[in-house]
Amino acid sequence: MDEVPGVSKIAITGKGGVGKTTLCALLARAMALDGQRVIAIDADPDPNLGHALGFRRDTLQRVKPLSEMKDIIEERTGARPGSLGGWFALNPRVDDLPERLWIEREGIRLIIMGGIKAGGAGCACPETAILKALLSHLVLERHDTVLVDMEAGLEPLGRGAASGVGLLVVVVEPGIRSINTALRIRELSKDIGIQRVGVVANKIRAEADLRWIESSLEGMSILGWFPYDNGLVDADRDGVAVWEACPSFLARVEEMKPLFFSPVPNNRMG
Ligand SMILES: Nc1ncnc2c1ncn2[C@@H]1O[C@H](COP(=O)(O)OP(=O)(O)OP(=O)(O)O)[C@@H](O)[C@H]1O
Ligand SMILES: [Mg+2]
Repeated sequence: MDEVPGVSKIAITGKGGVGKTTLCALLARAMALDGQRVIAIDADPDPNLGHALGFRRDTLQRVKPLSEMKDIIEERTGARPGSLGGWFALNPRVDDLPERLWIEREGIRLIIMGGIKAGGAGCACPETAILKALLSHLVLERHDTVLVDMEAGLEPLGRGAASGVGLLVVVVEPGIRSINTALRIRELSKDIGIQRVGVVANKIRAEADLRWIESSLEGMSILGWFPYDNGLVDADRDGVAVWEACPSFLARVEEMKPLFFSPVPNNRMG
């Protein structure tokens, strides 16, 4: 009997610049190569996952983030983004949106959520309602592997989507600021009910970096690590997918991958 590939719902977070987008792109590639249906979600208000996945710049320039699709937001929530006060649907219908929104390259479907600028991500506005509803739908109801590239907070997940996330990966680098962010995220993740939290260490220059991170993280489990590599800087400059610029990083993700899988975390998926 053929083995059916498992489905994972993984969110990636950490301090700015640590390598969240790089890891997300590599995981997406590794899981797509396994034959999984991968949806990669760029939930960073300053989106750049598309570049790391190797989408062409002109393609990405044509794609509007969902947070800027005023017509769809108005149609679904009943309120135009930017309008003040008034009623809007907190649980808008979104199940038909993924197919309309994603762009696809080499088996990876990318959805660019965009950010909410005015009032912060916590604001009660139609944009937030639709982004949260879409994330919850993808994480809780889709039988696809879903990877979410986020900023340092857990706000976009909220309690709704958090229960569907099988693993939250916090990326750290050798530096106290990223460690402090990781420790803070661990506490936040308990508050919203994330099931499992793991760490990936990045930009490691020597054994001592890794030992320092291990001793700074107070028992958080380290799923794997990547060396510092100038090839990634080149990938960013030249607009090529991270796995094309650094094939050895893909090999590392392949090794870590079993640790990223967890049983399907709920019984709502068909
Ligand atoms: N192991 C590494 N070695 C060298 N450079 C790296 C490494 N990992 C990532 N980088 C570089 O560091 C920069 C930040 O990486 P990346 O965009 O993946 O981080 P991020 O956490 O998603 O950042 P942001 O918070 O801005 O979204 C990029 O220029 C990337 O090429
Ligand atoms: Mg990023």
